[in-house]
Amino acid sequence: MSRADLIQIAYLVAAVCFILGLKWLSSPRSARRGNQVAAVGMAIAIVATLIDSRVVDYAWIVIAAVVGGSIGAVIARRVQMTAMPQLVALLNGLGGGAAALIAVSEYHAHGALGETSLGAVAAVSVMFSAVVGSVSFAGSLIAFGKLQELLPGRPITWPAQKVINAVLGIAILALAVWASVAVNDPVLWIAVVLALVLGAAAVLPIGGADMPVVIAFLNACTGLAAAATGFALGNVLLIIAGVLVGASGTLLTQLMSKAMNRSLTSVLFGAFGGGSTGAAAAAGGENLPVLEIGTADLAAQLAYARRVVIVPGYGLAVAQAQHPVRELADLLGERGVDVTFAIHPVAGRMPGHMNVLLAEADVPYDKLLEMEEANPDFPQTDVVLVIGANDVVNPAARDDASSPLHGMPILEVDRAENVIVFKRSMASGFAGVENLLFHDPKTRMLFGDARKSLTQLVQDVQDV
Ligand code: TAP
Repeated sequence: MSRADLIQIAYLVAAVCFILGLKWLSSPRSARRGNQVAAVGMAIAIVATLIDSRVVDYAWIVIAAVVGGSIGAVIARRVQMTAMPQLVALLNGLGGGAAALIAVSEYHAHGALGETSLGAVAAVSVMFSAVVGSVSFAGSLIAFGKLQELLPGRPITWPAQKVINAVLGIAILALAVWASVAVNDPVLWIAVVLALVLGAAAVLPIGGADMPVVIAFLNACTGLAAAATGFALGNVLLIIAGVLVGASGTLLTQLMSKAMNRSLTSVLFGAFGGGSTGAAAAAGGENLPVLEIGTADLAAQLAYARRVVIVPGYGLAVAQAQHPVRELADLLGERGVDVTFAIHPVAGRMPGHMNVLLAEADVPYDKLLEMEEANPDFPQTDVVLVIGANDVVNPAARDDASSPLHGMPILEVDRAENVIVFKRSMASGFAGVENLLFHDPKTRMLFGDARKSLTQLVQDVQDV
């Protein structure tokens, strides 16, 4: 068997690992295995690529692998769960940038349709990869900057924005066609620079709340750019991996848009999600009464409840309160209380955020209910504990047609007998919309950091 055959077989095995990994990643039960299998697939892919006879010098590859691998390992160990979306944005951007750079170097080495022609398919692939990869790189860096609060999270807008972006798009297309037919490095470089400007200009007007959807969309773009690079290089595995990323990014974008009841066009072109306070004022909730509860009273109420549902949200992640919340659930379970967790698809700041957080604290998967399963049971629930969640339980999304959240499916906690909300203040959630649930006569507020409140509550339940 030749070396080339061996590489193709290794690529096939790696592709199977990626597909199985993705499949297993779709359930919390098998996600860990999915991640490991995909990592093994990537290791096989890297080794197979390195034994390719076209690799002429290993020195730079080793230096890059050591530097990049070390940075990656340190970041992976240090990153906070709450900073995951911006890390995904950053890594995604680097993927897009890498695809674009490979495309540019292929163009430099072979031209497009020139004498040492790449051929029509490869020429289109090179242009696509260079342009889309650059858009994704710049857009992802802006998304990273917004989420990391290096840039303002609100939409940044300027006059004739859409027209300017359209002109940029047409100019890039024209330059890409020009570079394809008349081989000319500077023309491609200008197209790349304009694509970087377009990527930044397209993401700056999008508000922070929509950023995770944008990141999923850019992720899909990076996948397609990588697949195009695969066509240009004639590398089957890169095509498969790129298409898998492209497809999963597209599906994720659709799922997230649906769960927020937004169309992708309104996310990309709507300049929404900057934490508008106009809606809060319009709701006029500031004059309504707010009832509070202490941990001792709540402990008694919980100890004698039959059914308790816990609704975690972004604040649970901020407070890192996953361990005390599991302790509370265990303690109540031992006393015969039926305790479950209701998970909203966009609770937190990234898909599966709450699942990952609760899995970290070993909350059993069969205790987690998805929104559709949880909603019919709220009317038979004695107490709902809303812990650091806000937008995903806001009844305005269901009842107030003028609310920016209107149409987003919610966890209907207001149908339960008692609602307890754990948060630090009356501040609004990420969408910046007032929540009248906090003023509902059946709601009690437990103000304070969720971790501190839960730790105290666990003690108080033990004393009941
Ligand atoms: P949010 O609506 O963002 O509310 C989180 C609440 O947690 C805040 O009201 C905050 O109130 C409270 N909080 C923060 N730190 C806390 C702490 N240490 N202890 C206790 N409470 C704390 O969260 P949510 O209900 O999970 O909704 C998620 C939002 O993100 C939605 O608008 C969703 O559309 C958006 N989003 C999510 C995703 C994904 S994929 N998950 C994607 C795009 C957008 P205080 O400041 O008063 O404490």
